[in-house]
Parts: sequence; C-alpha cells; structure tokens
Amino acid sequence: MNHKEVGTYWNENAAVWTRLVRAGYDVYREYLNTPAFFELLPDVGGLSGLDIGCGEGHNSRLLANRGARVTAIDIAEVFIQHATQSEEQEPLGIDYSVASAVELPFGDATFDFAVGFMSFMDIPETERVLAEACRVLKPGGFLQFSIEHPCFATPHRRNLRNTAGRTYALEVGDYFRNLQGEIAEWIFGAAPPEVKRGLRRFQTPRFTRTISQWLNLLLDRGFVLERIAEPRPTDETVQACPDLQDAQVVAYFLHIRARKPKESEVG
Ligand SMILES: C[S@@+](CC[C@H](N)C(=O)[O-])C[C@H]1O[C@@H](n2cnc3c(N)ncnc32)[C@H](O)[C@@H]1O
Repeated sequence: MNHKEVGTYWNENAAVWTRLVRAGYDVYREYLNTPAFFELLPDVGGLSGLDIGCGEGHNSRLLANRGARVTAIDIAEVFIQHATQSEEQEPLGIDYSVASAVELPFGDATFDFAVGFMSFMDIPETERVLAEACRVLKPGGFLQFSIEHPCFATPHRRNLRNTAGRTYALEVGDYFRNLQGEIAEWIFGAAPPEVKRGLRRFQTPRFTRTISQWLNLLLDRGFVLERIAEPRPTDETVQACPDLQDAQVVAYFLHIRARKPKESEVG
C-alpha cells in the first residue's frame, strides 16, 4: 500500500473523525498528547512552521495561537475542507492545502520548523517523509513529531486488566514485524454508545517500525536528536479522565525533537 491509497482511507474517515474530535472524544489527544507536545516545543513565536498531516487543524490552530506563521497540509481533502472552514470562521492566518508528506510542494529550506502530530506512523514511506521534512527545513530548523510508541503499539497488543477493570500490564508481541498497511477498525472509545450508534467505524492502515528504525532513519538523514519524551498522565489527569489510566502503565506515545544542522555544523 502506498501513501496515496492510505490517503483514500483517511479521506473516508475524515467526516466522522472531525465530528468526534471536535466533540472532545479523542481524550488521549486532549488530555495527554497535545499538552505534552506543546510542553516540549521550543518558542515558535514569529517562526514559520509546517504542520504535516494536520487533520482538521486543531494543532495547527494551537501553533498559530503561539505566534507561529503556520502552513498546514494533509493528504485527505475532507480534513482540509474542515480545517479551511474553521480558518474562514476564525482567521488565524493558516495556509491549508491538500498535499502528501511524501512529496511536499515547497522549496528547499522554506520553514523554521516542521511538526507532525500523530501522522508520521500512518505513512508507509517513512524514510521519504523524514527526507522531505528535512529538505523543506532551513539549516538550524527543527522537526518535532509524535507517534504511537513503537515498543508498545506493536502488531500484537492486549490490555491485561484486574477485576476492577484497571489495566495493570500490556501484552506486546511481534515487535519486529513491520506492518505494511493492515487495516485497524476502531472508533474513539470515549464517545458514548448513543453518539457512536450508526457511525461508520474508522479504517486506518497500520505501519509499524521498531524504535531503532525510527531513530536510525533520523540519524541517517543527518538530524541531530535534541529531545525525546514519553508522556505519562498524572494522577489528577486520570481522575479527570479515567480512560487514560492505561497510559500510566506503559508509554503509548513517543515524542521526538531533532534539528537539521546549520551548514557550518555539517561534518
Ligand atoms: C491520527 S491523524 C492526526 C491528525 C492531526 N495531526 C491531529 O493531531 O489531530 C493522522 C493524519 O495523517 C494524515 N495523513 C496520512 N497520510 C498522509 C500523507 N501521506 N501526507 C499527509 N498527511 C497524511 C491523515 O489524513 C490524518 O489527518
């Protein structure tokens, strides 16, 4: 499966996805992933940034609210329609367009930074995504992205729960098998049954890579690793949103910041 075929799946998911995330049912994004991502993010005020795989634009808007000049792309037209509609209703100066991370329609050294919020692991051509992000960054610019944690979002995964329903461990397996587009069918668990009733479940093609594959691809491209995070919800967060309890047991997400060296630093 290539990036274009993957895009057709995401386009089909986009209308229901947008409705549910805007209603707050992507609780891992709301309570854990996005706050942790922004905690790791350097000051982007006045910088030009590219959001790769922006979806309906939630995180692009947060970047713009932090003073960045934001360009945002997604392969799914329906997501870009929703993002553009929000921009028309509340302009933040974000420039949205339909494009693939694998063939970015921007010149070399265009942006001060690039980000990918939970999008890079959905694209089969991992190496090309990182190469394209590197190409459009100015020397000295940074790339920050979040992905499902390679060690815990393995091809086989099962939550082990105690009698009270609390997760106490995760069973993981098949770590070294690189999934190449197996379809996962699911919908946000936090959405109540009456909201989910009659909705088409998402179909998302899965592509798993090991942690060494991810890190070595970045290093091979010449990136300098700057910061790594594995967000864990606090007890207060779990109290506010009990669905996140399992994310205290293992790291569900991996956040990486890496820098493209300045020309004078290339050895
Ligand atoms: C899990 S969603 C995350 C969306 C958004 N970044 C967020 O955090 O809400 C993954 C996104 O990656 C996009 N995507 C998948 N393949 C892509 C590609 N080749 N180029 C650009 N975007 C892609 C999907 O359309 C989808 O919007």
